[in-house]
Amino acid sequence: MAEERRIPFANISEENESLRSEIEAAMKAVIDGSKFILGPAVEEFEKDFANYCDAKHAVAVNSGTTALQLALIACGVGEGDEVITTPHSWISTSWAIRYVGAKPVFVDVNADTCILSPDLVEAAITPKTKAILPVHLYGRAADMPQLRAIADKHKLALIEDAAQAHGARRDGRRVGSHGDCGCFSFYPAKNLGAWGEGGAITTNDAAKADHMRRLRDHAQDGRHHHTELGFNARMDGLQGATLGVKLKHLDQNNAGRASAAAQYANELAGVAGIKLPSDPGDAGHVWHLYSVVIEDLDREEFRNAMKKRGVDTGVHYPTPIHLQPAFADLGHERGSFPVAEDIMARCVSLPMFPGLPESDVNYVCEMIRDVLKAG
Ligand SMILES: Cc1ncc(COP(=O)(O)O)c(C=O)c1O
Repeated sequence: MAEERRIPFANISEENESLRSEIEAAMKAVIDGSKFILGPAVEEFEKDFANYCDAKHAVAVNSGTTALQLALIACGVGEGDEVITTPHSWISTSWAIRYVGAKPVFVDVNADTCILSPDLVEAAITPKTKAILPVHLYGRAADMPQLRAIADKHKLALIEDAAQAHGARRDGRRVGSHGDCGCFSFYPAKNLGAWGEGGAITTNDAAKADHMRRLRDHAQDGRHHHTELGFNARMDGLQGATLGVKLKHLDQNNAGRASAAAQYANELAGVAGIKLPSDPGDAGHVWHLYSVVIEDLDREEFRNAMKKRGVDTGVHYPTPIHLQPAFADLGHERGSFPVAEDIMARCVSLPMFPGLPESDVNYVCEMIRDVLKAG
């Protein structure tokens, strides 16, 4: 019976179980050496992760949100500056801009990619603009060549929010290597997830890397000598050990996500009432989320009907950042960024994780066809 089947929206336990003994052995080394804060496991992970991202340096920190904050500081963004970004993201992208005293200046997204539209960026630049902060949303790389050209032309920093896109490529190079800094989250459900909080910033600029290493450790330039306002943003050793093991499996996991995405695209092609995400090809998407747009049926009706059939779904994200109460002082109203608002009112994330069985994707697609036909 359809009602007995339960397909979770995400499942991190399976991967964690399969790597448990390897991760526990790596953690044991940290415990045996009492290297709980930074230390060799974190240093090794930093080297491996920089290498993986085609970047020269990686600085490990304690969350993706802090990664964004330290990257903004390292790029010289501060009080009174403006940063061009997207209203369609997890809230942290804009938090970080606010944390450094700057103002998020939103630009609408492209209807096909859901990502900051490069064509609208130049019109938003003012004398106060210091940086552009695109988000590789859902795992899809933003149009970095066009954004890089705009940033260079106007002498702006380019910071990538790559929290959802570990391993995605643009023009053959991985995200995190295109901007002045690339910011990653290792929240457990991300494509590369820690067993706790974690984040990292990648950069090709040695001076910025050194600056962020100091910032994360109370801005110490030598013991007990603090050169500016610092932070306790260090990655802990147990997370470094976990991530070092999991990084080796990232490509294989991303391939698992890509094959589920291809199956969705294949089985849902031509179904009326649902808009599927396009695949840029060349590993330009690592499918952190498979978010579709439900065109006619009310979103909650669709989700409830799917739930009744045993399929869990998510929404990423229901409220555009410019309409969040926390950003009310910016004075935006509904209608300010219509493309993002429209997508965010109708988007639904389907089950997506590396070990999602083919038979489950097949079942989800069958149920979608059933619900949309009934609706
Ligand atoms: C796009 C985006 N930016 C930033 C973050 C913040 O990362 P963290 O939760 O590790 O602080 C996340 C993750 O939640 C994210 O999805």
